[in-house]
Amino acid sequence: MASRFNSLTSLLSLISCLFLFLSYFHGTKAQSTPPIVKGLSWSFYDSSCPKLESIVRKQLQKVFKDDIGQAAGLLRLHFHDCFVQGCDGSVLLDGSASGPSEKQAIPNLTLRLEAFKIIDDLRRRVHKDCGRVVSCSDITALAARDAVYLTGGPDYDVPLGRRDGLSFATQNATLANLVPPSASANTILTSLATKNFDATDVVALSGAHTIGISHCTSFTDRLYPNQDPTMDKTFANNLKNVCPTKDSNSTTVTDIRSPNKFDNKYYVDLMNRQGLFTSDQDLYTNSRTRGIITSFAVNETLFFERFVIAMIKMGQLNVLTGTTGEIRANCSVRNSDNSFLSSVVEEELTVLSQL
Ligand code: HEM
Repeated sequence: MASRFNSLTSLLSLISCLFLFLSYFHGTKAQSTPPIVKGLSWSFYDSSCPKLESIVRKQLQKVFKDDIGQAAGLLRLHFHDCFVQGCDGSVLLDGSASGPSEKQAIPNLTLRLEAFKIIDDLRRRVHKDCGRVVSCSDITALAARDAVYLTGGPDYDVPLGRRDGLSFATQNATLANLVPPSASANTILTSLATKNFDATDVVALSGAHTIGISHCTSFTDRLYPNQDPTMDKTFANNLKNVCPTKDSNSTTVTDIRSPNKFDNKYYVDLMNRQGLFTSDQDLYTNSRTRGIITSFAVNETLFFERFVIAMIKMGQLNVLTGTTGEIRANCSVRNSDNSFLSSVVEEELTVLSQL
């Protein structure tokens, strides 16, 4: 009898331990994951396109095996999509009779052409498997997540259900929403605060510069005519070799310590005055952000946690959901301008009118 009582109490304590364990993890996830906006969901394509995430990841593994640099291009593409008019795939659209596209605005001229091709190739693979149910903006968000993970960064869930926009932003709106690399930390903090990002989000998001490259023209204002005194002298001299004049055409890496690895070395660069852009380096000069940089430089896990929070926030900026927007059949053309789609619709209408 006593032994039966003992095994019952041990079973009960085991169950309560399990409960505590589960609620602890549930609690921490809820705490560290920003709220998701109405219309997006963690399981949006679970029944309509169950293989979506594995198709994207497997294909990107192949792409990055050939050229790891493409990861940075995809991460930046998602940022430029979300900051201008929200994550609606508008940056992917080609220009039209109504005027030049977002793509043609100055900050977007240095987006990699290959990144646009990779997104539409992923779209084609996904639509082949599931039909036209997944948006280009969701594919861009997943590609950015995989770019981070496959270069050594954190893995995280992406809320899905975005729809593609029917129009692109004007050149002025694009310029107004993407701060230039010459911006001070105060300018960036003020600009990003309008999108609800705090100082920690700003520093974490800038950590994306741990991978990728930049053209000389994005930072030579710090070398010519006068050298920026906040830049390390040897670093400046090396940059002058890569970019002998203000308008040199070359490129260089944004994180000299580990340019192809998503890690916290970008913050170590900043602490050594080896940040490439004023917008990076000034985050270490500014008293509001300096401490955050040091904390990320000494604690990569903390950086990864904060980066994921900021990326999930960024990925939900002004999203279109429900019945707004559309699911594009080609990421660079809205459906009403897609001649192949229009002819299919016309054929269907003719058949219907004959019934
Ligand atoms: C907030 C202020 C930011 C400024 C001023 C800025 C500016 C720039 C500039 C000027 C370049 C180089 C472009 C070139 O000349 O080729 C660049 C590259 C890049 N940026 Fe940012 N950026 C910012 C934030 C972000 C954010 C939030 C992300 C992503 C979450 C990001 C991801 C990247 C990546 C991955 C690259 C390398 C792209 C490649 O290799 O093709 N940036 N950024």
